[in-house]
Amino acid sequence: MRITVFGAGYVGLVSAACFAEVGNDVLVVEIDRERVARLRAGICPIYEPGLPDLIERGLATHRLAFTDSPREGVAHGEFLLIAVGTPPEEDGSADLSHVLAVARSIGQHLERAGSIVVVKSTVPVGTNAKVRETIAAALAERGRSLDFAVVSNPEFLKEGAAVQDFQRPDRIIIGCESGEVLDRMRALYAPFNRSHERIVWMDPASAELSKYAANAMLATRISFMNEIAAIAERVGADIERVRIGIGSDPRIGFSFLYAGAGFGGSCFPKDLNALSHLARSRGLECRLVDAVIAINHAQKRRLFRMIDRFFEGRLEDRTVAVWGLAFKPGTDDVREAPSRVLLESLWEAGAKVRAYDPAAAEAIAALYGPRPDLILCSSPEEAIEGADVLAIVTEWKVFWSPDYVRLAETLRERAIFDGRNILDPETARRAGLRYFGIGRGEPLL
Ligand SMILES: NC(=O)c1ccc[n+]([C@@H]2O[C@H](COP(=O)([O-])OP(=O)(O)OC[C@H]3O[C@@H](n4cnc5c(N)ncnc54)[C@H](O)[C@@H]3O)[C@@H](O)[C@H]2O)c1
Repeated sequence: MRITVFGAGYVGLVSAACFAEVGNDVLVVEIDRERVARLRAGICPIYEPGLPDLIERGLATHRLAFTDSPREGVAHGEFLLIAVGTPPEEDGSADLSHVLAVARSIGQHLERAGSIVVVKSTVPVGTNAKVRETIAAALAERGRSLDFAVVSNPEFLKEGAAVQDFQRPDRIIIGCESGEVLDRMRALYAPFNRSHERIVWMDPASAELSKYAANAMLATRISFMNEIAAIAERVGADIERVRIGIGSDPRIGFSFLYAGAGFGGSCFPKDLNALSHLARSRGLECRLVDAVIAINHAQKRRLFRMIDRFFEGRLEDRTVAVWGLAFKPGTDDVREAPSRVLLESLWEAGAKVRAYDPAAAEAIAALYGPRPDLILCSSPEEAIEGADVLAIVTEWKVFWSPDYVRLAETLRERAIFDGRNILDPETARRAGLRYFGIGRGEPLL
């Protein structure tokens, strides 16, 4: 099949590379020319396990190609996938300008009837219709009227496991009205739908809302646990024990039940705000989602508040080692990352940061530029050299089993602020460290 993917980001690149891997002829359209040049040279612009190999193979077999020309892209594909960003507007609503820009260029260049436009970007309810209208209007400007379909096909892959998620999806939601279009979508996804039926057919509005609802549910579990963690701290309970106590109930389960330094990333924060905005635009309140957002907002400052209290508000010239900058392990993405709130708060209070992250240091360097109060280190050990305390912000595997004795010998104030509850408080204490977790360890009220 001939597939065009608009947008070479996390979703677009992974989808394109996976579709090429199973034998399709895939062209990716990306407006960032530098990114196109790097991709053509076989350089993967994002950190995503397994993706560089797929890109390399796609290029070698000529099943995967890159262009900055929408005209070429529209001419190429019978399936035209939209995977561009939908960043938040100031009022929290989703900015659809990139999605609609692609729709417009599809209408400006479309020559053949029967194309299927697939919206993979996360978009508010009603976008499917807007995309259809935008394409039709651009066609009409050219005096053309061609038959085409618009399908809502939200993407559920997770950064850090994106290739695997795409190749083995839990479900493939197809939002369209026509059975004929569904059959063509079924053929498109057949290689990823072999062992059992994963396709869920529904109307476009339900498909669009499903994506927001899924993210809102997962984020709700996190904020719920952070609220219980705050209670645990006050009453002398250990949130980790509570987590196991409730997660072992199969009606609850263990996933997304971790208290921590708050959720970030390019999806949860913006999608929750967009959902709340969508509800308000229809005259509804979104009280639960608004509370989830508010709890997370406060939670992202939690580590800083703990460190600030530890130093009794005197952070000038203190040095904090920070382990983890990415918003979660397995990615270099620092969009809305809790680490940024910590770094910025520490700097504002006059502290210095020595940070280590296995993948996201470059992204942080690009964001903040060179500054004397940020030293990016090349190992966790280097980050703690000369530091007063350690804050763990991202639960990369490399941080899970540290040399506690070395930590105690190196950290001047012998204190660890574990924003992901990954260390063992008892082992830390035995090594002579003070351990502060989220809802466990020494209370720091
Ligand atoms: N990142 C995730 O884990 C994830 C998961 C599921 C869904 N989503 C959704 O998928 C969409 C894309 O997310 P992402 O993280 O891949 O975004 P991204 O920011 O990583 O990539 C978007 C890419 O689109 C390009 N672009 C913008 N306008 C364009 C245009 N007119 N033509 C061609 N290219 C254009 C940008 O230059 C950028 O490279 C968003 O709606 C997001 O919410 C993301």
